[in-house]
Amino acid sequence: MESLIEDWDGETAVVRYDRPTGAWIFIAIHSTRLGPAVGGTRMKSYPDPSAALRDALRLSKGMTYKLAVPGLPFGGGKAVLATPRRLDPEARHELLRRYGSLVQQLGGSYRTAPDVGTSSEDMDVVAETGAPYVFARTEAAGGSGSSGPATALGVFTGIQAACKHLFGDATLAGRSVLVQGAGSVGGPLIEHLLEAGARVLFSDVDERTIRHFQVELGLELVGGGDAPEETTEDVAREAFATECDVFSPCALGGVLNNETIPLLKCKAVVGGANNQLAEPKDEDSLRARGILYAPDYVVNVGGAMAGLAMETRGVARQDAEREVVESVGSVLRRIFELADTEGITNGAAARRIAEERLAAAG
Ligand code: PHE
Repeated sequence: MESLIEDWDGETAVVRYDRPTGAWIFIAIHSTRLGPAVGGTRMKSYPDPSAALRDALRLSKGMTYKLAVPGLPFGGGKAVLATPRRLDPEARHELLRRYGSLVQQLGGSYRTAPDVGTSSEDMDVVAETGAPYVFARTEAAGGSGSSGPATALGVFTGIQAACKHLFGDATLAGRSVLVQGAGSVGGPLIEHLLEAGARVLFSDVDERTIRHFQVELGLELVGGGDAPEETTEDVAREAFATECDVFSPCALGGVLNNETIPLLKCKAVVGGANNQLAEPKDEDSLRARGILYAPDYVVNVGGAMAGLAMETRGVARQDAEREVVESVGSVLRRIFELADTEGITNGAAARRIAEERLAAAG
């Protein structure tokens, strides 16, 4: 673990072994240059503690860039609770409370929120000991609640911006969009797309979700359905190979890699999933294939942006959502333009914008 921290360019890594549960707690504060570090709490099992630390360090850097690109006054951080495979609800609850105390001890230099494996309900528990440094608690508890709908709105705006750039027209009527994963982000995204007159295809592996979107709303399901022995990978492969204008990954990370990119039959990839590229060089392969890629963290910042606006500036939800639409749209336009004039990828353009902001802050 020493070399992981030595090679990381962040500010502070907090390590705690939680003896009662056997969980490891890692809090990575990558940068507070633009403001207090913000980032979600990821809770899952890892093969070993160093894999969890690596995740925390890497993800915290991602948060610095994600929040810097749209000019938010926050730095990047992330927490990982690496739990043993089985954790009963009582033990989990107590772990979250002890984790909250640790967040509290950091005095606001790191502020947390939900992430993979944690929910707004979990944030209510963390806030019992960690308040006021906890975002996106449930609305019943006075928080901004799920960030899914605002994230979806940002992705929708990103799809419009990509279409405008590619076809000279942002209208989605008649455009085909394949949404991979119709969950907390993909679900509300589909609603926006339908309202805008897009032809929506979707893929998912959850039976209830499939029933809702295929049977009740009459959308085209890609993969799954007819072959019960089909695996998640089969479903995913069919989704990659389906012809559409925009492919919108809203579920798994690492979906764009040297196996999937050659299969793609879309003109743009604009989605809400985190870490869509398996490796940075995968963006070059997309570019070589003439597929427009909107960097994931630029497109999926809406949830954090709206939550922060509501909770730190007292902005009403509707106004916070309007800010998401305006910000994601204008930031993407700037990225596409910078990438075109400089002959660089959109990802490189986004990094440049973030690094300029960080440098300007001294
Ligand atoms: N997990 C969220 C993200 O990665 C973080 C977040 C959500 C921060 C809501 C603030 C409010 O963007």
